[in-house]
Amino acid sequence: MGGAELQKAVPGAAGLLVGSLLCVLLPDRVDGPVLAAAGRQLRVVSTVSVGTDHIDFAAVRAFDGERAFDGERRLQVGHTPDVLTAACAELGVALVLATARRFKEAIAAAASGAWAAWSPTFLVGAQLQRKTLGFVGFGRIGQATAARLRAFEPARLVYWAPSPKPAAERAPLFAERAANLAALLAVADLVIVSCSLVAETRHLFNADTFAAMKKGSILINIARGAIVNHDHLFEALKNGNTVAAAGLDVTDPEPLPVDHPLQSLPNCLILPHISSATLETREA
Ligand code: GLV
Repeated sequence: MGGAELQKAVPGAAGLLVGSLLCVLLPDRVDGPVLAAAGRQLRVVSTVSVGTDHIDFAAVRAFDGERAFDGERRLQVGHTPDVLTAACAELGVALVLATARRFKEAIAAAASGAWAAWSPTFLVGAQLQRKTLGFVGFGRIGQATAARLRAFEPARLVYWAPSPKPAAERAPLFAERAANLAALLAVADLVIVSCSLVAETRHLFNADTFAAMKKGSILINIARGAIVNHDHLFEALKNGNTVAAAGLDVTDPEPLPVDHPLQSLPNCLILPHISSATLETREA
């Protein structure tokens, strides 16, 4: 549903449920015009997602500011953390393995007949054992993914986040905090993006960031598409000087057009934003 259509659908609503089967789809932004179209009786905006980057909080505050209300009746915003942490972490592990072991090319080879006699060099991928895993953002989902990836015996687990995580969270994972993003990129064989999309992280991964990554490294994005500049990622994956492969559960835009250049790359595995898509999570 586009912005104008949304504005037509919401007048008189007491609540907006974003991302439910019945209402607004996740890419839709709940912004000032949508709130204004809903009207002053609106009390709740709730999103069936952990991410809230599609909700314009400045507009929410302005909307409250414009209304006469008593303290109890502010516009409430809700989201769904926790119920999807395990689902997203499991998908994160799957995407790491599928990208490192070249599933996109392997599935195509099996289906197309390019699978010939066994050869020791056929579809050779990267092993996680003794590698350095780097997490950009280390909240609930990043930590849950790291906990599962520990089973693959990486050499080091490094994270970068604006503030250090408490020892109770980081110690069981043997996670070290990098001094900054550049320090993480200099050592990580696999970079797993699991931070929120905010102004500071939009296009955090761009030509400069890719140039700072280790040669042969792998980029995984289970967070938000717009954290990665897709044009720059295409160039990086094509020239192969640094990033060897990428696994993306999220893209910008979504859906990513089938003729987008990234879709044509054998070393770019793209999933249609399914990280939270388990029955258990949906029911919860
Ligand atoms: C999914 O991407 C979510 O934010 O829940």
